[in-house]
Amino acid sequence: MKILSIVGARPNFMKIAPLCDQFRTRGISHVLVHTGQHYDHKMSKLFFEELGIPRPDRDLGVGSGTQAEQTAEIMRRLEPVLLEERPDLMIVVGDVTSTMAATITAAKLGISVAHVESGLRSFDRTMPEEINRLLTDSIADWHFTTEESANENLRREGVDSERIFFVGNTMIDSLLKHVDRADASPILVTLGVTAKHYGVVTLHRPSNVDSAENLAAILSALHEIAREMPLVFPVHPRTRKRITEFGLDHLVREGSGSGIGSDSGIVITEPLGYLDFLKLTREAKVVFTDSGGIQEETTVLGVPCVTLRENTERPVTVTCGTNILVGMDPEKILSEGRKRINGHSCEGSVPPLWDGKAAERIVDVIERLV
Ligand code: UD1
Repeated sequence: MKILSIVGARPNFMKIAPLCDQFRTRGISHVLVHTGQHYDHKMSKLFFEELGIPRPDRDLGVGSGTQAEQTAEIMRRLEPVLLEERPDLMIVVGDVTSTMAATITAAKLGISVAHVESGLRSFDRTMPEEINRLLTDSIADWHFTTEESANENLRREGVDSERIFFVGNTMIDSLLKHVDRADASPILVTLGVTAKHYGVVTLHRPSNVDSAENLAAILSALHEIAREMPLVFPVHPRTRKRITEFGLDHLVREGSGSGIGSDSGIVITEPLGYLDFLKLTREAKVVFTDSGGIQEETTVLGVPCVTLRENTERPVTVTCGTNILVGMDPEKILSEGRKRINGHSCEGSVPPLWDGKAAERIVDVIERLV
């Protein structure tokens, strides 16, 4: 049996790592392909090192571009690799452009595709990821899901129940495996913050950061909160560009590396590696984010999460976890944020099967099917 897996962007890496471990320990032949959608050291290679992911066997080096350019380039460069490798199964994870482009390429060559983190739906087609999810799931052969809503979505869309496997969350496998190691990260000392006396911010969704009006509204609200408690903002490259382009630099300041005081505002840092970010999140009083994965990670860590989106494809983080959706409404960001920095507790519970064994279950199924 030969398995070929695809990764491309930062949120893919923690989802594939536990599967790589399983293939290695079970002696299953595995080819890892990196599309190169993310290429900065801090967005890619650092994660391979920290998560112990083997070096990709193939790097397609597609780089940045429009959605269509990236999709086309991934398909063009992946096709000959698939023809040469002829895997028995291709695995894709998550909802990034690489996930969708690789799925189309394999399906057209008659190669079976398994989608890990299948079935999530925000029902918001303005999100590029929602288009990626719909396209991937409509032609994938096997669907591995993380929560009950995904099972329901897939069944409603006509996917045969026998092709749906509710296995849990491989991103949480990675988190549980590394959380103790992350404890040794010096990031709090480096930034000069004290556990439970700061918040964390991440923002990169086009709807939030590509509109000057929305980004200004969000940063202004967060700036208010940062008068009461420092906010650390490891910034995605596209967001950094937009802050400058829209003239919003006065709302943030570059982290000098130490001495963040209680009135230091929003402090920007470079994107952080996996272990530093895990430590920073775990010790935070509150997290403000528009990321999908961070809604799940905070749920497992029991850290309050305020999501700056109108919807989520991960409803279990709201019904079961620590998450609340506030959209881009500055008033709501302020009031819900303030509640949390002032100790409003959001005790959640860990969703079913988010127990660190998802990759084991997936590879059990694969061994049975392929
Ligand atoms: C992608 C995913 C998103 C995921 C996010 C995590 C899609 C549609 N979106 O969004 O779901 O949450 O990754 O980060 O796949 N750039 C760099 N260096 C890099 C990578 C990107 O500078 O290593 C800059 C480039 O200017 C690039 C821009 O970021 O054009 C956007 O990168 P892209 O991969 O298109 O989308 P993300 O916003 O990162």
